[in-house]
Amino acid sequence: METWDAIRARRNVRTYADRPIGEADLERILEAARRTPSSMNSQRWDFVLVTGRESLRRLAGVWRGAGHVAEAAAAIALVAPAVDEARTRESIQYDLGQATMSIMLAAADAGIGSGHAAVENQPLAREVLGFPEDHFCAWLIALGYPGDRPLRPLRAPSRRPFKEVVHPERW
Ligand SMILES: Cc1cc2nc3c(=O)[nH]c(=O)nc-3n(C[C@H](O)[C@H](O)[C@H](O)COP(=O)(O)O)c2cc1C
Repeated sequence: METWDAIRARRNVRTYADRPIGEADLERILEAARRTPSSMNSQRWDFVLVTGRESLRRLAGVWRGAGHVAEAAAAIALVAPAVDEARTRESIQYDLGQATMSIMLAAADAGIGSGHAAVENQPLAREVLGFPEDHFCAWLIALGYPGDRPLRPLRAPSRRPFKEVVHPERW
């Protein structure tokens, strides 16, 4: 897919076809994550790739909005150091947001759908994923071929109007 098409075709996909994602595609999606820019190139992230059905089903329990993870072909857990300082925490979240978009666009490029999930139950996430005590699982990104319809550029995305959000020169 062209980059512009991938940007317009990405949408949250929460129902998945019963079709595995090939290793080369998963590797490319993770490589996109690894290449993401970060504040001072600090790369305060680790990516745990989960494809086992039992683990995916358990991960679906980390938050009431994570149910879609259960039937995904795979999920990438974004794991980061737990820090107290607010500014650093915000900076890590900014970087993780960029990594998320890298993952989602690389997936869309290959026709693979993706869906965010927040993580509330950290002990459960740690039990399934095995990350260290001084880290936390910030987000899950479920991946899978769409179960509803293939990814195609959306004509009218559910977004505030261009003229409302874009301010030429000054607000
Ligand atoms: C920070 C963030 C957290 C999100 N958490 C969840 C979630 O826990 N569960 C979920 O189903 N969707 C989640 N979403 C998906 C949003 O609801 C979705 O991106 C938004 O409604 C726009 O829809 P679109 O992605 O299809 O364009 C999250 C998105 C973001 C950016």
